[in-house]
Amino acid sequence: TNIAVFASGSGSNFQAIQEAIVRGELQANIKLVVTDKPGAYVETRAAQFDIPVLALSPKSFDSKAAYEQAIVDELRKQDIEWIVLAGYMRLVSETLLGAYQSKIVNIHPSLLPSFPGKDAIGQALAHGVKVTGVTVHFVDEGMDTGPIIAQTAVNVIDGDREQTEEAIHKAEHALYTAALQQLFAGKVQAK
Ligand code: GRF
Repeated sequence: TNIAVFASGSGSNFQAIQEAIVRGELQANIKLVVTDKPGAYVETRAAQFDIPVLALSPKSFDSKAAYEQAIVDELRKQDIEWIVLAGYMRLVSETLLGAYQSKIVNIHPSLLPSFPGKDAIGQALAHGVKVTGVTVHFVDEGMDTGPIIAQTAVNVIDGDREQTEEAIHKAEHALYTAALQQLFAGKVQAK
């Protein structure tokens, strides 16, 4: 299965997915990393695995549609079948959604529908929940709103943001790999 991973930042989920592929736990091929933030650390990680990066700044396009169309053109050229969002900090709109219907997934660091949007971990801690978690879901035009594919619960480590974050990221890396394996094997039905 040919996939593209979209990321705006560190890219630890990208790396976890690629490592699972290398270990033979996930039958997929990351043909391309796409970033909207030229210079993001994910580029360094991609280079370590010899995976090409398409770095396009939306600002340099006339519209969001033109920006997304440039991405779609490249994805088509490379026979990409699935788009895996991993810390891509931008809403996806109709150009990408139309070209990749029910083929775009995202990971979010909370148990959706709780705490969508930015800083979900901070939101959960501020709310004082004792259990939070991780969600993999199909992407639609909303902010973290598409149909849920898989979730894992993570206990909040009392008042300790750093340890809680670490536990959540660990859970993300495991859940994303497992969920993608199921998806690519055709074992998940898009609602
Ligand atoms: C992850 O917490 C992901 O759930 C969220 O953004 C973060 C990206 O982390 N959407 P990384 O870039 O994969 O390290």
